[in-house]
Amino acid sequence: MYRIITVLAVVFFMFACSSGSDSEGGSDKADKYKVETKSTDDGKGVGEVTSVSLNSPLDAEMVENGKAIYELKCAACHKLDDQRVVGPGWKGLTEIRKPEWIMNMITNVDIMLAEDAQAQELLKQCLVRMPNQNITIEQSRDILEFMFANDGQEVGS
Ligand code: HEC
Repeated sequence: MYRIITVLAVVFFMFACSSGSDSEGGSDKADKYKVETKSTDDGKGVGEVTSVSLNSPLDAEMVENGKAIYELKCAACHKLDDQRVVGPGWKGLTEIRKPEWIMNMITNVDIMLAEDAQAQELLKQCLVRMPNQNITIEQSRDILEFMFANDGQEVGS
């Protein structure tokens, strides 16, 4: 009996999740966060990274490092084109998100999902929480460099 109740609860949860966005109650907390973040949202996300200086052309070694981390820890869920697998494809990411936001998303994903409006919007679409991958700030900077290369920016020699 207990089992059945658990199953029902899970099914209900899934349903509640996919029926999604603005339908009925239960999301008081999420709404509150939204209002709070909107008024102060600078698009840089929440976390240690508050400013990033970019390279032009890109640093080839950083791109390589970023690529290696991508293949090891990210490729299972993220493609390099614009197709979603588990998470969104990375093509064009550097054009729609600020560098600081990207690095905070990579290094501070739990807080981002709790507090950042854009991250919450993604979670609504993907229905899966990105796990914390224990990436350092430095590694996330290399990944960012790789993302710029993936978006067609020139890589230095
Ligand atoms: C288990 C699957 C999974 C893995 C592994 C994963 N991610 Fe994600 N990622 C997601 C999901 C799902 C989202 C969308 C947000 C959410 O639902 O939590 C996401 C979102 C993102 C975003 C924001 C994308 C956008 O469109 O703005 C970035 C950046 C990102 N991930 C980077 C990484 C990096 C870097 C790694 C590897 C170190 C990684 N992810 C590993 C599942 C994953």
